[in-house]
Amino acid sequence: MIIAITGTPGTGKTSISKILQKNGFEVIDLNKVACEKIFLIGRDEKRDSMIVDVEKFNEHIKKNYIGKNIVFIEGHLSHLLKNVDKVIVLRCHPAELRKNLSKKGWNAKKIKENLEAELLDIILCEAVEIHPKNNIFEIDTTSKSIDAVASSIIEIINNKFKNMKKYNMGKIDWSEEVFNWF
Ligand SMILES: Nc1ncnc2c1ncn2[C@@H]1O[C@H](COP(=O)(O)OP(=O)(O)OP(=O)(O)O)[C@@H](O)[C@H]1O
Ligand SMILES: [Mg+2]
Repeated sequence: MIIAITGTPGTGKTSISKILQKNGFEVIDLNKVACEKIFLIGRDEKRDSMIVDVEKFNEHIKKNYIGKNIVFIEGHLSHLLKNVDKVIVLRCHPAELRKNLSKKGWNAKKIKENLEAELLDIILCEAVEIHPKNNIFEIDTTSKSIDAVASSIIEIINNKFKNMKKYNMGKIDWSEEVFNWF
């Protein structure tokens, strides 16, 4: 089973993946592997980042990981992979996300762009276009420690991805936050 861990940059995907690895799980870092295997289309000069060839990456996981027990693929593009079985979207209240992004040393423009993306549920909307709703889970990481978020992921697995109200997609709504911006 292949599980995508996705979310707006700064929601903690990499930090949480490290805990999952310590717990014995296999985790693939999408951005790292895409660069190593040269699954890239080009460069986004505006965003100062590489553009990943999602189709090529999709083929790569089909060849190498389908049929394995549990493999996580972490990265803010992992929900775009059609070959993943389940998608876990990490969410974070914009005020707290701002703090996480500041720790990355990003400039104000890049931080704002990502806060807007989180506020507008961009990643969730993209995931819903590709995957059945019952394969998508959302975790609100706001005020949760990195360990607690990793435990939530393990809880979802132990529950065999059955419906759990607290992780149902579509319940998280940061739209009220927009009033603080004007
Ligand atoms: N739940 C949390 N509690 C406290 N700090 C957190 C939490 N989640 C993330 N952080 C902090 O936020 C920063 C960004 O986290 P991280 O790099 O794991 O995010 P990411 O989702 O992997 O981002 P990117 O998409 O850019 O790779 C780190 O400094 C991390 O320690
Ligand atoms: Mg990361």
